[in-house]
Amino acid sequence: MNYDLLVLKVKDYFTSNNVIKNRYYHSLGVVDAAIYINKLYDLKIDEDKLKTAAILHDIAKYVSFDDSINILKENDSFLSIEDCLKSPQVLHSFVGKYIAESKFNIDDEEILNAIYFHTTGHPNMTALEEVIFVADYIEDGRCGYVFDNVRKALESSIHYAAFLILKQTINYLNETNSFIFPLTIDTFNYYKKEYNYE
Ligand SMILES: [Fe+2]
Ligand SMILES: [Fe+2]
Repeated sequence: MNYDLLVLKVKDYFTSNNVIKNRYYHSLGVVDAAIYINKLYDLKIDEDKLKTAAILHDIAKYVSFDDSINILKENDSFLSIEDCLKSPQVLHSFVGKYIAESKFNIDDEEILNAIYFHTTGHPNMTALEEVIFVADYIEDGRCGYVFDNVRKALESSIHYAAFLILKQTINYLNETNSFIFPLTIDTFNYYKKEYNYE
């Protein structure tokens, strides 16, 4: 599907009762942030793939918890459903892959994986996955010192920016006594070991 048409379809998907949800504007912000990072580090990621992954990354944000679990039970053999039941906030990224496939006819594995891993990351992400992971956190609509910390980190390294997102997320989840999805911890440990980040 042509990108402009895709944007219209996403807009429609994020509109109910003639009200466009904020998630649509956040998604456009992630597109801009992803393009910015791609240029900043001269990563040469195909811009069409980048924009498609970015505009669709949160497409499952409004799928109900029960529907999300059912979609994952039916389609996914990678995740532990037991962990998913304990971590409702990350489900939309995994479910997003299946919505992108079934409702938006996306069949490019790289794009689908960038959507799938955008909340947890995974060890040794591809450049596309890492850009979407970071762009989601630094797009212009995000306000607060945790986001500014990552914008600053991005000036030195995209890997350090990704590490800092994971570190801040894990700290927050610990402080609020929340379950931390195991893949988030695996990704954090990967960056710590691979790059010696503190
Ligand atoms: Fe998300
Ligand atoms: Fe997002």
